[in-house]
Amino acid sequence: MVSFILCLLPALLATSAQGQTLTCNTCFGQTETCKFAPGTCQDNNVTGGCLSVAEAITLDGTQNTNFYKQCLSSYTSDIKVPISFTVGNGKYVRINIKQCNNADKCNSPVLGVPTGSTTENGLQCPTCFALNFALCNSSVTPCTGDETYCIDFTGFLYQGPSFSPFEAKGCASASAQAVKPGTNLTSTPYTFYFFWGKTVQAEKIPTSPPPTTTTPANTTNPPPTTATPANTTLPTQTTRSGSSPAVGTFSFALYLPGLTGLLLVKLLS
Ligand SMILES: *[C@@H]1O[C@H](CO)[C@@H](O)[C@H](O)[C@H]1NC(C)=O
Ligand SMILES: *[C@@H]1O[C@H](CO)[C@@H](O)[C@H](O)[C@H]1NC(C)=O
Ligand SMILES: *[C@@H]1O[C@H](CO)[C@@H](O)[C@H](O)[C@H]1NC(C)=O
Ligand SMILES: *[C@@H]1O[C@H](CO)[C@@H](O)[C@H](O)[C@H]1NC(C)=O
Repeated sequence: MVSFILCLLPALLATSAQGQTLTCNTCFGQTETCKFAPGTCQDNNVTGGCLSVAEAITLDGTQNTNFYKQCLSSYTSDIKVPISFTVGNGKYVRINIKQCNNADKCNSPVLGVPTGSTTENGLQCPTCFALNFALCNSSVTPCTGDETYCIDFTGFLYQGPSFSPFEAKGCASASAQAVKPGTNLTSTPYTFYFFWGKTVQAEKIPTSPPPTTTTPANTTNPPPTTATPANTTLPTQTTRSGSSPAVGTFSFALYLPGLTGLLLVKLLS
């Protein structure tokens, strides 16, 4: 009897510590209605939760918006909080994320497209974006809104089964401090694997013309942290050996829109 209770006790303790099953909405879509594949998933209210994500990404020159809802446990991104960075004029990544675990289907409210701000905040960052070892010719650019950090990273941009090395510099939200070498940021069109670099506080834009006579060194000689080390080591890593990992767990969101499109085309023809 005693041993029976002793056996049961850990199980009882475990269940109470493990929380309760939470039901979350699931869906995806390219508009806020998030109307495709509506359904539910279940997650633990302590170790997991419900998630709502709204993305606006313009890296290829067109506005790519995606909305989805899912369980937190199935969200593979290392960054699970809102993040934004701007790597050129009109080239940005904005991901708005809302987590909740306080009620079933707590992720049902519409999460709007992250719009950013055009109001300059008095800070600036070197800014550029380059793919496939092209020169990231940065120019110092004013930051806007809550983008008060400078991001400077090289890495790999995974898109479906293919990937390209990238270099990205620009203004970023404070949450970009969580971006470290080895971090993956997952979005619907891309996974960013940040390989090398850092996020630092943005510098103030000089209010008067910089006193070029006294301290020109600070502004003219940014530390040569940019392309060369990564460029020399990256090529060996671009072999096809690890070409599929980005797709794995996220293939649902990546491929369903395409499949649905194909189906629609089939149906309409
Ligand atoms: C999870 O659910 C249990 C049971 O309803 C509740 O006691 C606990 O506070 C919840 N935990 C969280 C983090 O919401
Ligand atoms: C970098 O950009 C500046 C101005 O945007 C331009 O003058 C310069 O030639 C560019 N450098 C290279 C190597 O492309
Ligand atoms: C310029 O750099 C020096 C040392 O590198 C530093 O002490 C000084 O504060 C810097 N000045 C500005 C305006 O950043
Ligand atoms: C990041 O993503 C890449 C490509 O999908 C994968 O190989 C790697 O294991 C991921 N790293 C982490 C820490 O999740």
